[in-house]
Amino acid sequence: MKKHIALLSGDGIGPEVAKQAVKVLNAVADSFGHEFTYEEGLVGAVAIDETGDPFPDSTYQVCKKSDAVLFGAIGDPKYDNDPTAKVRPEQGLLRMRKMLGLFANIRPVASYKILEEASPLKNHIVSGTDFVVFRELTGGLYFGQPRGRSEDGKTAFETSVYTDEEIIRISKLAFEAARKRRNKVTLVDKANVLVTSRLWREVVTKFHKEHFADVELDFLFVDNAAMQIILNPRNFDVILTENLFGDIVTDEASVIAGSLGLLPSASMGSGLGLYEPIHGSYPQAAGQNIANPMASILSAAMLLEMSFDLVEEANAVRAAVEEAMNTGIVTKDINPDKFLGTEEVGDKIAEMVKAKSRQKA
Ligand code: IPM
Ligand code: MG
Repeated sequence: MKKHIALLSGDGIGPEVAKQAVKVLNAVADSFGHEFTYEEGLVGAVAIDETGDPFPDSTYQVCKKSDAVLFGAIGDPKYDNDPTAKVRPEQGLLRMRKMLGLFANIRPVASYKILEEASPLKNHIVSGTDFVVFRELTGGLYFGQPRGRSEDGKTAFETSVYTDEEIIRISKLAFEAARKRRNKVTLVDKANVLVTSRLWREVVTKFHKEHFADVELDFLFVDNAAMQIILNPRNFDVILTENLFGDIVTDEASVIAGSLGLLPSASMGSGLGLYEPIHGSYPQAAGQNIANPMASILSAAMLLEMSFDLVEEANAVRAAVEEAMNTGIVTKDINPDKFLGTEEVGDKIAEMVKAKSRQKA
């Protein structure tokens, strides 16, 4: 198979971890007889430095002509610490999501046996966790108009907007995913307070009844969900939620896996898929060869499966990551006593992918 991948490494540790994902994709290409080509695009603070725009048109064009997008991370302390900055790296990410029509962000959360000790939660609670969050990504408070400041600057406001169409298109993906899993969807909202949440409940309930009545559907208010996710994580299969709630509960849920450095994500929508680790740019670690590349590598596995339909290849990558973890091929965040560097972990996982395909042959 011949495929063209847009490579948007971004800021901080983004380039280092994305490089390991590319190594692993190349190992997949070599061992399974595919050809992957890459084209880089600037995004985030590096793009602002070079072009003044965190998501320049040239990068949009690179994405449009690719078969999938592999994304690193964005964010830079020089903007975080300056609330007056007019142009911010995060705007690039949001504009990219909107322009590429990436309305569904899919974030799987699973516990790894070997890492249960690394989770700050007790073993018996996290053990066997396996759920996936479907976060709406291009609506709600993040994008709603109007937003801004009053003339005297003393008042600020944003608007949360959702339409039934926006709710239905992501609900469809969530219900379809549930059918392939344990057949349960939990809608997380704040319908006791917010009118947008009441629309979510109404629309999801109707859509469920008409098209997915075979799937179990339940509802949780987001505050309660935040509690249940760490009290009873095994109770969840597919969580469906709006943009802001999804942002918050997925960071919370990452604690279950033992490290934020392990969680991949996919953003889907009108065709093109974008794959990125859920962690940020971790600027303190940039250039030090200490960042965990596994989330980025697992994002590449999602890319193989969801954009290219290469399920066997994706599973080979996941198996290699698991083997690396089980044999102590890990970065410092996973084992501070005995660890390897970002590059070395990437090299070993790429080798393991090749070895796995040789065993099969
Ligand atoms: C995420 C991030 C982004 C978001 C930021 C960087 C804009 O936290 O992808 O979860 O809030 O969506
Ligand atoms: Mg977030």
